[in-house]
Amino acid sequence: MDIEFVRSRFIKHFDGKTGNVYASPGRINLIGEHTDYNGGFVFPGAVDKGIMAEMRANGTEDTVMAYAIDLKDRVDFKLSDPAGPRASWARYIFGIAKEFQKLGVPVKGFNIAFAGDVPLGAGMSSSAAMESCFACGLNDIFGENKVSQWDMVLAGQATEHNYCGVNCGIMDQFASVFGKAGCLMRLDCRSREFEYFPFKPDGYRLVLLNSKVKHELAGSPYNDRRNSCENVVKAIAKKHPEGKFETLRDCTWEQLEEVRAEVGEEDYTRAHFVLGEKDRVLAVCDALIAGDYETVGQKMYETHYGLSKEYEVSCEELDFLNDIAKENGVTGSRIMGGGFGGCTINLVRADLYQKFIADAKQKFAAKYGHEPEVIDVVIGDGSRKLC
Ligand code: GLA
Repeated sequence: MDIEFVRSRFIKHFDGKTGNVYASPGRINLIGEHTDYNGGFVFPGAVDKGIMAEMRANGTEDTVMAYAIDLKDRVDFKLSDPAGPRASWARYIFGIAKEFQKLGVPVKGFNIAFAGDVPLGAGMSSSAAMESCFACGLNDIFGENKVSQWDMVLAGQATEHNYCGVNCGIMDQFASVFGKAGCLMRLDCRSREFEYFPFKPDGYRLVLLNSKVKHELAGSPYNDRRNSCENVVKAIAKKHPEGKFETLRDCTWEQLEEVRAEVGEEDYTRAHFVLGEKDRVLAVCDALIAGDYETVGQKMYETHYGLSKEYEVSCEELDFLNDIAKENGVTGSRIMGGGFGGCTINLVRADLYQKFIADAKQKFAAKYGHEPEVIDVVIGDGSRKLC
C-alpha cells in the first residue's frame, strides 16, 4: 500500500487539497487468546499490513466526509447525530471521534479517505487497525498529540463496545498502537505493564494460513464467551466474600472446581480453557527466553485444542488446517484471534516450510474448493504519522 494511492483518492473525492497521512497495523498473537478480557496475559505483535488514512480538518463544525477506498463507498455524517452513520466501517470513525470528544479533544468536521492491506475478517484485527489509525490522525489534527498511547488504545476498545457491539478486550488496539518492528510484546492485561520481546526464531518461520472463513465478531458468540467467564467470576466471588475477584485472573483451579455444579458445564469448560491459557502464555515466555521453540510449539497446539474443544470458537476448516500442520511436523499451530473463522498461526521449521505450504494448499483446496491464503508474518511498527 502506498501513500500516493491513498492521496490520489483523497484529492479526487474531496476538494483537491491534501491532508496528513497516518498508518496503523493489524496484529498477530503468538499465544494468549481470550485472556485479555479475563485480566490475563497476551503475546501479540504488530504486522507490516494495516490501514492507511489521509485526513484533514474541513472547516465545518461537525460534518465528517468519509471515503472507504477499497469499498468505493462514500458516507457523510454529523458528529452531533446521536445515531451515527449506519455503514459499519463509518461507525469506527464516528466512534473514535466521539470517544475523543469525551476525552476533551475538540474534534470538529474533517475529511478522511482510507484503504487497507490487512485481510478483513481474518482475525488479524483490521478493525483495531482502523481505530488506532483514525485515533492517531484525530490526535494529531485536533488533539495536539496530547492523547496518550494508552488513551488511544482505550478509545479504540470503547469504540468496539459502544458503537460496534463487540465487548472485546484490549489486545488488538494495544498491539496496533504500541507495535515495534521485530518485537512481540507480552502484555499483562490487568496491570497494563508490558515488555518488548525481540523475536527472531533462528531456523523457524511464522506463517498464517487464512481459511477465508469470514470471522465476524459483531453480534457473534464472542460476547457469550465473555459472559460465561464473568458468570464464573461472580459465582466464585459470592462463595468467597473475603476475596477480591474481578476477572478469572484472580481465580484458582480449586475455586473453579468449587463452583462447577452451580455454573454448569458450559461456563465451567470455558473458564477451564482460560485458566489453562493464562498458564500457557507464561510457559511460552520462559521457553522463548530459553530458545526452546519446541515447547512454544507444543503450547500452541494445546491452545488450539482448548479453543476448539473447550472454548468452542473453532470451525471445521481451522481444525483441518491444524491437522495438516501436525501431519507435516509443524512445530506449533493454532487458531489465531477471536476465532469463528480467520487464520491459523504456524511456527514451522524453515526446512519444512515449502512442503507444509504446498500440502496445506493442495489438501485444503481439494476439500473446500479454494486454497488458503498464505501470509508470511513480518513484525512491524505501530501507529504512526507518515507525512
Ligand atoms: C478479538 C478481540 C480481542 C481478544 C481476541 C481473542 O481479537 O478483539 O480483544 O479477546 O479476540 O484473544
